Amino acid sequence: MRTVKVPLADRSYPIRIGAGLLAEIGEQCGRLRLGRRCAVISDSNVAKRYRKKALDSLKGQGFDPIFISLPAGEKSKTLKNVQACYSQLAKHRLERSSFIVALGGGVVGDLGGLCAATYLRGIDFVQVPTTLLAQVDSSVGGKVGVNLPSGKNLVGAFYQPKLVLCDLDALKTLPSREFCAGLAEVIKYGIIYDVQFFERLERDLPNILRQDPKGMTEVVARCCQIKAEVVGHDEKEAGLRAILNFGHTIGHGLEAISKYGRYLHGEAISIGQMTAAKISHAVSGLPATQVTRMKALFTQAGLPTEVKLTTAQTRNLLAAMRLDKKVSDGEIQFVLANKIGKVVIGQKVSEKVIRKALLD
Ligand code: NAD
Ligand code: GLY
Repeated sequence: MRTVKVPLADRSYPIRIGAGLLAEIGEQCGRLRLGRRCAVISDSNVAKRYRKKALDSLKGQGFDPIFISLPAGEKSKTLKNVQACYSQLAKHRLERSSFIVALGGGVVGDLGGLCAATYLRGIDFVQVPTTLLAQVDSSVGGKVGVNLPSGKNLVGAFYQPKLVLCDLDALKTLPSREFCAGLAEVIKYGIIYDVQFFERLERDLPNILRQDPKGMTEVVARCCQIKAEVVGHDEKEAGLRAILNFGHTIGHGLEAISKYGRYLHGEAISIGQMTAAKISHAVSGLPATQVTRMKALFTQAGLPTEVKLTTAQTRNLLAAMRLDKKVSDGEIQFVLANKIGKVVIGQKVSEKVIRKALLD
């Protein structure tokens, strides 16, 4: 098992990465001196496979869990479902000392985390991410929230978990499309922070796609280390943390205009990163050869890299991007790359340049 620490003074916490960790939820929570009562929030797909294992492990260590299952998928990330969870928490009399375990992908983690941040003005929570995307990104760093019909993650909070438990075995039951979607965030870390990691992905992608256990531990751990380092320096996104949003302005816009139904988050982010790369070539000096290498890696990972939009869809996309949280004084802010491994934040880009990159 590998452990990566998120360094946030008295709110620091460990990310534990390894095979078989789902069976250790009870033991790992036991070490945290949490209350006895807890709620496991999950979704229908994950519940089918892992409900029993998680509940047995918690009960085996003397915890008294309830289980809440939401319909699977991005469309569940709503205030209505937060309300449904509050009702269950209140009905079962969860108290200030109780805690929430978010067992699932980023949807469950974001929504479960928002419930934990707000129920009784905040109770403890533990992230047990079961998708690649959630293990390398969404479960770490404390961003929790839900979508509004008008945009992604528009209601939320910064609220750190007490522990993140990444069971690599859980990835074996993940549909391959979902696994590939997670790779979009993995590749992102190479582009924004670590050229050697990007080069390693270029060399090792076939092994990663086969989920070679040693390689997977190292890949998940490196992504978590990078995210922990960034969040440790800038928890609330005053500056540096914005680098993690590379490709997200366009990606979130695409998700919103397709009503969260067409693209998986990672797929939208893949298209968003490639569009940001083309803008970076036009505006911030990213060499064309590096744009080509990025495209090759996303493609090899089974991800889409472009989108064909009608004029009306492009207009809607630009409008959705203006609603994103990265907008400042009404101007769309981009994270752009100078080269693989180095990005700059807060770049204002004209609509003309964005339109051209979308058409290329
Ligand atoms: P998801 O939670 O919808 O999970 C993807 C699918 O995989 C779902 O159908 C789920 O039921 C299924 N699944 C999960 N684990 C499984 C397993 N082990 N075996 C079989 N099926 C399994 O999506 P996601 O890609 O994990 O997360 C996307 C969400 O994360 C988006 O809402 C995005 O906005 C959010 N996100 C948040 C942050 C953050 O910092 N908080 C960062 C990135 C993404
Ligand atoms: N995924 C962006 C962030 O955590 O800041």
